[in-house]
Amino acid sequence: MDKLVIEGGVPLTGVIPVSGSKNAALPILFASILMDEPVTFTNVPDLRDIHTTIRLLTMLGCACEFSNGTVVMTPGALKPEAPYDLVRTMRASVLCLGPLLARLGEATVALPGGCAIGARPVDQHLKGLEKMGASFDLNAGNIIGRCRRLTGAHISFDMPTVGGTENLLMAAALADGETILENAAREPEIVDLANFLNACGARISGQGTSCIRIQGVSRLGGTTYAIMPDRIEAGTFLVAAGITDGELLVKDCPWDALEAVIRKLQSMGMHLERTPEGVLARRAGRTLNAVDIQTRPYPGFPTDMQAQIMALMCLAEDTSMVEESIFENRFMHVSELMRMGANIKLSGRSAMVHGVRQLTGAPVMASDLRASASLVLAGLAARGTTHVRRIYHLDRGYENIEHKLNAVGARIRREQE
Ligand code: UD1
Repeated sequence: MDKLVIEGGVPLTGVIPVSGSKNAALPILFASILMDEPVTFTNVPDLRDIHTTIRLLTMLGCACEFSNGTVVMTPGALKPEAPYDLVRTMRASVLCLGPLLARLGEATVALPGGCAIGARPVDQHLKGLEKMGASFDLNAGNIIGRCRRLTGAHISFDMPTVGGTENLLMAAALADGETILENAAREPEIVDLANFLNACGARISGQGTSCIRIQGVSRLGGTTYAIMPDRIEAGTFLVAAGITDGELLVKDCPWDALEAVIRKLQSMGMHLERTPEGVLARRAGRTLNAVDIQTRPYPGFPTDMQAQIMALMCLAEDTSMVEESIFENRFMHVSELMRMGANIKLSGRSAMVHGVRQLTGAPVMASDLRASASLVLAGLAARGTTHVRRIYHLDRGYENIEHKLNAVGARIRREQE
């Protein structure tokens, strides 16, 4: 198993590029199932979850070739079964359910695995698809779905769910008639998916608002589409500039999509400047201020940036509060940050972060994707050496992370244990 060994205490300076968004690429690649013509995807990040998706799609009948950030998908005869061996490693695999039902009227998908952050049910996906005419059975850990033909429906989600909105958006694109999704998630990745589907001939409007309307069409296909930049990777790099007291130009940083994060970083005392090439990030003064955050669905503060901003809070003057309202059990980085000298008190879904003068390097264990990023950030700022173990989580979501960070001055090496 690989670990990262980080010699901390070096201010990062220079230009750091942002890759294509993992969370946009996954649903957009799964939308291949809906297509009856070849599609080319560009700006696709080279990540483990992407390769898993490509293998899964190829097994389902959508032959995908990945090379240099481009995926070429050639549609073939579809199969309705997503095998457990692939699905168990990646929660997003459940996104093939809607498209398979729309194309084949049947789908067998193992219940998803992925990051261990709370219960993460898929009831909203299933309820929505049932309203469109599908029925489901659970058998030996598999969801088995069937329908004659999906028909448009009026669906109101109990809570805004990103994956649920994406699954239904894809299913509705080829359903008979109009579907209205209310209380839909508004994340920029959903807008990217809807824009992609529209480029393939879908009729979707309202993406980015909580009410999305989809007029079903009879076929989709044939386009070239560039995936949006990864707002969470970009936000992680903005924090890297602040936590190391360096200066980074984060290239292709999606400012608008990151607004909630940018506002909090500015309140913490960071200078963030929009330039034509990207966002220039550094501390405005010598110290960092405490802030309070509550994670919320977009446009609120993203849960996927909670662990990273907490690493920065560890070094702020005074006490910051973090409330995690999206996922229970998403504080697994806290005990590891404390091994590095952080002073954090946990109480249910809240964490109180008392700033300390300095973090010190320590052996730590990554527990999920964003927790891993938080430990890397802490390691970059810490005095001494940090060993981050179980970084396979990190490799699921950050393309070439140590190469990118080393290119701006970090001292990180990957070692095998
Ligand atoms: C996506 C992102 C993930 C991010 C999350 C929230 C991808 C591949 N993953 O995950 O990085 O952290 O959005 O921004 O894009 N819920 C239910 N029933 C459902 C579906 C969801 O109760 O059927 C609950 C979840 O347990 C959670 C909340 O709704 O508490 C939000 O989950 P959701 O938005 O669906 O997250 P994902 O799509 O899994």
